[in-house]
Amino acid sequence: MENKVIYITGGTKGIGLGIAETLLKNGYRVAVSSRKAEDVQRAEVELSRLSPDVLAFTSDVRNFNSEKEAIDKISERFGRLDVVIANAGMGVFKPVDELSLEEWNSMIETNLTGVFHTLKASVDLLKKSQGLYITISSLAGTNFFENGTGYNASKFGVVGFTQAAMLDLRKFGIRALTIMPGSVSSHFNGNDPSEKDLWKLQPEDLGELIADILKMNVRVLPSKIEIRPSRPDQK
Ligand SMILES: NC(=O)c1ccc[n+]([C@@H]2O[C@H](COP(=O)([O-])OP(=O)(O)OC[C@H]3O[C@@H](n4cnc5c(N)ncnc54)[C@H](OP(=O)(O)O)[C@@H]3O)[C@@H](O)[C@H]2O)c1
Repeated sequence: MENKVIYITGGTKGIGLGIAETLLKNGYRVAVSSRKAEDVQRAEVELSRLSPDVLAFTSDVRNFNSEKEAIDKISERFGRLDVVIANAGMGVFKPVDELSLEEWNSMIETNLTGVFHTLKASVDLLKKSQGLYITISSLAGTNFFENGTGYNASKFGVVGFTQAAMLDLRKFGIRALTIMPGSVSSHFNGNDPSEKDLWKLQPEDLGELIADILKMNVRVLPSKIEIRPSRPDQK
């Protein structure tokens, strides 16, 4: 059988790019997307050094038609889709009385509605392949914190959405699961990955977790996974 095809939203940097690199090294075929054309191009060049089985294109998960076109591109190139990783996300951290409507909407539309758009656009192909649908939520989907209203609301939402979708989709042989990471070194919220991030999880740790899940027997479904750095920040 040909190698499985994996689509990663927000796969051009940070966690998504790290997952893409690890899965390509494991022999999978990988498609990545995000909004910025220059990041898509850079990711395509970097990933193509690992394997020719790479597809990269722009898509905005806030726009359903954009995700539909993304899935069509994957289908055209690879003829199948086995794993969807709804990873694209962003956060604005402010006290609730200072959070603007625009900031609230951007988090809900990207982190929550975007995850639904990606599933809705891909679910027919996942039914065919009896595939996996993975959301990258967060420990912020179970722990609330100051300045986190919009982000917490979106990530608590993703956890609830994925768990309910898991019950709907397992009837079709699709396994849906959510991964809830703690701190990961990435470009999230303007972070610049550097030595100060060595205590955090690294993007490839998430890639290795997913590679391990892909090796599991199809009767196994780890439906909700919390993962965090084993030691806290020493600052
Ligand atoms: N870093 C952490 O500590 C941490 C912890 C737990 C969970 N997470 C979650 O992990 C996921 C990945 O974040 P990250 O840490 O890797 O951050 P990142 O380095 O900032 O990467 C985010 C990715 O998402 C893309 N993206 C943002 N908005 C998008 C949209 N509307 N449509 C398509 N792509 C979009 C970005 O590209 P463009 O800007 O070019 O679109 C980028 O490729 C997010 O869901 C985040 O909430 C992160």
